[in-house]
Amino acid sequence: MIKTPKERIEELVKLINYYNYMYYVENNPVISDYEYDQLYKELLELEEKFPQYKLPDSPTQKVGGKPLEEFKTVEHKIPMLSMDNTYSDEELIEFDAKIKRMVDVRDVDYVVELKYDGVAVSLHYKNGEFFLGVTRGDGFRGDDITENLRTIKTLPLKIKYKEPIEVRGEVYMRKDDFEKLNKERKEKGEVLFANPRNATAGSLKLLDPKLVAQRNLQIFIYQGFLNNGPKTHWEVLEFLKNIGFPVSPYRKHCKNIKEVIEYCNEWQDKRFSLPYNIDGMVIKVNSLDLQKNLGTTTKSPRWAVAYKFPAEQVSTIVKDVIVQVGRTGTLTPVAILEPVLVSGTTVSRATLHNFDEIKRLGVKIGDRVFVEKSGEIIPKVVKVIPEVRKGNEKDIQIPTECPVCGSKVVKDREEVAIRCPNIRCPAQVKERIIHFASRDAMDIEGLGEKWVNIFVDNKLLSDYGDIYYLKYEDLIKLERMGDKSVRNLLEAIEKSKTRPFANLIYALGIRHIGIHASEILADEFTSIDEIKKASLEKLSSIPEIGPIMAESIKDFFSNEENLKVIEKLRKAGVKMEREKIEEKKEILAGLTFVITGTLKNYSRNEIQNYIKKLGGKVTNSVSKNTDYIICGSEPGSKLEKGRALGIKIISEEEFEKLVKERMSE
Ligand code: IVH
Repeated sequence: MIKTPKERIEELVKLINYYNYMYYVENNPVISDYEYDQLYKELLELEEKFPQYKLPDSPTQKVGGKPLEEFKTVEHKIPMLSMDNTYSDEELIEFDAKIKRMVDVRDVDYVVELKYDGVAVSLHYKNGEFFLGVTRGDGFRGDDITENLRTIKTLPLKIKYKEPIEVRGEVYMRKDDFEKLNKERKEKGEVLFANPRNATAGSLKLLDPKLVAQRNLQIFIYQGFLNNGPKTHWEVLEFLKNIGFPVSPYRKHCKNIKEVIEYCNEWQDKRFSLPYNIDGMVIKVNSLDLQKNLGTTTKSPRWAVAYKFPAEQVSTIVKDVIVQVGRTGTLTPVAILEPVLVSGTTVSRATLHNFDEIKRLGVKIGDRVFVEKSGEIIPKVVKVIPEVRKGNEKDIQIPTECPVCGSKVVKDREEVAIRCPNIRCPAQVKERIIHFASRDAMDIEGLGEKWVNIFVDNKLLSDYGDIYYLKYEDLIKLERMGDKSVRNLLEAIEKSKTRPFANLIYALGIRHIGIHASEILADEFTSIDEIKKASLEKLSSIPEIGPIMAESIKDFFSNEENLKVIEKLRKAGVKMEREKIEEKKEILAGLTFVITGTLKNYSRNEIQNYIKKLGGKVTNSVSKNTDYIICGSEPGSKLEKGRALGIKIISEEEFEKLVKERMSE
């Protein structure tokens, strides 16, 4: 029987959605890629010819709609909590015992699921249609990322359930898609993502859903809020699956904690055969009544716990050891490895921390070693396998000279690190400047590793003080530096002159003084000069500033070279003292702002917080109560509406001028 175009379209939509489900959710492909592509093409062609029959849940609709200006904030009616972790069988037994104590029951059964290593989201449906998707945010309010989520192939836009329902799950990126994405980014010279989780989070933050669609994100649903239906979590999952949600097939109903432990152990090695990363298992009390009785703490439910796998250790060969020189001159040995796959990504370098660690491990060049990687942390060498030595392994030499500038190295008292003492050492110079411009420091956008290297090599920078004396004429001469990039960079540099005091302290790059210590110093002192004058006793009397930090601060400010650089900053107009905004912070009180388009110097959140901090108000829509519209590039419809209402439209620069004027009044 020949089908009408309408019938064939309906059939194809069903088939392709089913094949997607089998491939991505069940991990069980049932047709070849070639056959899949043929069907997809046929559907595309039919939809083009008969657009009137296009279905809202067609897989061809997952290409992403119009770009957004910003994400709206949405409140979670039920907070999105986090989960306690366990790391051993004993801790799982303790978890079980505690539950039994708390609710006074003898037997508790559990559901054990995979702990997907991605980004938690909440999805809302009504009349069987997906209409809202929100990130976890701070647990109480998140971003409305509905349009981005719509692009996820395995996220059903329609379900077989008409009542309003909220479900939660994890968005993730498969390992193969992650490798592919990073390869493309490498070719384009873009920053690489550290792992699939970061890539997922980064993708969901994109404002252009079309770009999100290209990332091929996936989702599993693990929680659903249903009023009076199922009595157990297991039934909830079955129900969610039946009405069309992607629920992972890898889950188990366990009668007791012994079965839970067995199932967790089973996945210890099996997890590497999955096409995506998991970072553990999740154990949930099965009975919903019991869950309710147990309740939650402010941070996490008492009825669930995560079981984290120990970090995966993989063996490989140390091909060489190189020495890197850091910002403060520390020499760090790094092992160059035969590339291996560790916890889902290819590893070809691992830190050896310091030369004492090399001694402790007994590692030689040519050795077979175990490496491990946990989370974001740089992979490290954890153990040598001396049994498989061939005899041609080479000892690692402890350098006596800095590999970059040739200075004789020094070893600090009470410290294991070997350092290059030359603060003019190019390695240190570059690293210091990179640190100075970095996010938590002066936050100079565009001044990353690549340009710092070029500027230093071209003798435009010899310390971070020079940043404020860079000239348009010098920069524009450089290869691959266009007018726009130069202007943007100079603007970012200018803007950094008023960075908060704590960030400036951190930017100086004083050894042992991280951002936290910098904040403490910024609370204690009102200016750089005051810190400079402070005695060792005064410094070490500050809570959380230990003697090593105090000594390091003194050392920093007694170094002539450092003082010269600080003078350069001062002369350039870099703010060297604590904000005085406190007293006159309400300078924008009574004013309402609307923002449209993309700003150069602030993200949406940054400008909103800034205006709020100064006592002003920011609203999403233009009305007659709006005082100013701050207009960036590619403004939206708010601009026209503002014009129609006769509201003052100002640029970002005009806004900054306004703030400056009011501040100096
Ligand atoms: S249930 C908080 N089930 O883990 C209790 N969470 O560490 C409800 N996660 O934010 C969460 N896989 O993003 C649950 N099968 C799973 C999960 C899972 C991953 C994530 C989730 C949550 C985080 C808590």
